[in-house]
Order: sequence, then C-alpha cells, then structure tokens
Amino acid sequence: MKLNLKIWRQAGPSAAGRLEHYTGHEISPDMSFLEMLDVVNEGLIRQGKDAIAFDSDCREGICGMCSLVVNGVPHGPDRGTTVCQLHMRRFKDGDTITIEPWRAKAFPVIKDLVVDRSAFDRIIAAGGYVSVNAGGAPDGNTILIPKDVSEAAMDSAACIGCGACVAACKNASAHLFMSAKIAHLALLPQGRVERYRRVVTMIEQADAEGFGSCSNEGECEAVCPKEIPISNIARMTREYVKAVLTADT
Ligand code: SF4
Ligand code: FES
Repeated sequence: MKLNLKIWRQAGPSAAGRLEHYTGHEISPDMSFLEMLDVVNEGLIRQGKDAIAFDSDCREGICGMCSLVVNGVPHGPDRGTTVCQLHMRRFKDGDTITIEPWRAKAFPVIKDLVVDRSAFDRIIAAGGYVSVNAGGAPDGNTILIPKDVSEAAMDSAACIGCGACVAACKNASAHLFMSAKIAHLALLPQGRVERYRRVVTMIEQADAEGFGSCSNEGECEAVCPKEIPISNIARMTREYVKAVLTADT
C-alpha cells in the first residue's frame, strides 16, 4: 500500500508543533501500525533526516507505552486494541492517516508523538498500592473471595496505564484510570485497609496534576484498550463519598 501520512512533529516541549506530510511506501497489510512507522523512519534516516519520535515497548498490548491518536481516536479505530496491535490491513491503499500525540495539559509533549505521562506515576505513588504485608503466596482458599468479586478485581487490574482515557476526554479527566486501580484494590480484602485514604489522596494528586473532572460522556470507556467499564467511576465516587463521610483518611 501507499499511504499519505500527516504526522505531528514538535522538536521539544516548548517548540511549536505542526502536522507534516509523509508518504508511506510499500506498506504491507500485515504490518502493525508501529512497524509502518518504523518503515517511514528507516526512510527518513536513510535521507539523513530526524526520525519521528514515538513511544513503544512490548508491542503486545501489555505495557501501555504506545500512545498515538490515529485519525482523531486514541489507539485508532479498533475497539479494545492498543495502537501497537492495530494492523495496516485496517486501512486501504491511498488512505490519508493523521497521527498525533495524546493531548492533555497533564501530558506535555516531549518530542513529536511522545508525551510525559509521569503524572500517572505520581497518582499511583499517592495511593494506588497496598502497604499491608501480604506475605508469600497463600494456600488456596485461605482468604475466601467470591469468584465474581475476584474476576471484577482482575478486570480492573487489566488497566495498563496508557492514558488513552485522558486523551479521549474533553475534560482530560483521569477518572477511568484512577477508578480502575481503586476498584481493583477496594474489591479485595488486602486493599480494604487503606481504601478511604487511597481514594482521597489519588483524587487530590490528579487535581494537582491538572487533570479535569468527569462529566460522564463515556469517551474514555470507548477508547480504553482494556475495556475498563465506566461503572468503575461510579464505584470510585461511592468510595470517595464514604471516605469523606467517615473522615477516615
Ligand atoms: S483505563 Fe484504559 S485507557 Fe485509561 S489508562 Fe487504563 S487501560 Fe489506558
Ligand atoms: S507497546 Fe506495549 S502496549 Fe503497545
């Protein structure tokens, strides 16, 4: 395939950015989206030009590093799919594809398509953990947890911290990300000890980082590659109300 690419280039955090036009030549439908960018970069390097900076690591949908807005949609057109797992067979010969970075005040651009997502790390450091000594691997059935509860906790634990939910939200809210961690831990006995302090400190940190609030639009859920449900945000709100009412923070 031959593709017309409009790609965001920005030399640094304070430099002005712009969309630049490139042509993707001999793109196989079997390539992943990131392999397509690798091919474009190889061409740029051969010409002595600056390669396009973009994030990736596992390229298996696990790590949460890849972070591209493809034709206006974080992670591109396939639901429940990271952009590293998006394949070029999803596009047609001659298509025009616009590629941009996550856009949110709390995720400043470092270079081209790479943004700084350390704000998420600081939210997790503020409360997204358990500090009880969980010991070694317990015998099965030592701590009885109903199967539906353990499955709901596991579903929430699937969040890979990619930030697509923030990029899709008109308020740049981190609520889906936070709610995944809060639901994961609040559902399990090990996480209940610190549940109220956790929800308050994580929300306070998100506010300090400049993330917006939630107005229930649902774009976050629509683009989440791990299909974290927006119902988690309702659970987080309930946790927060209980925390404030009990003042056990
Ligand atoms: S909730 Fe979904 S979109 Fe948001 S950071 Fe987690 S995996 Fe990414
Ligand atoms: S590169 Fe790891 S999830 Fe995409």
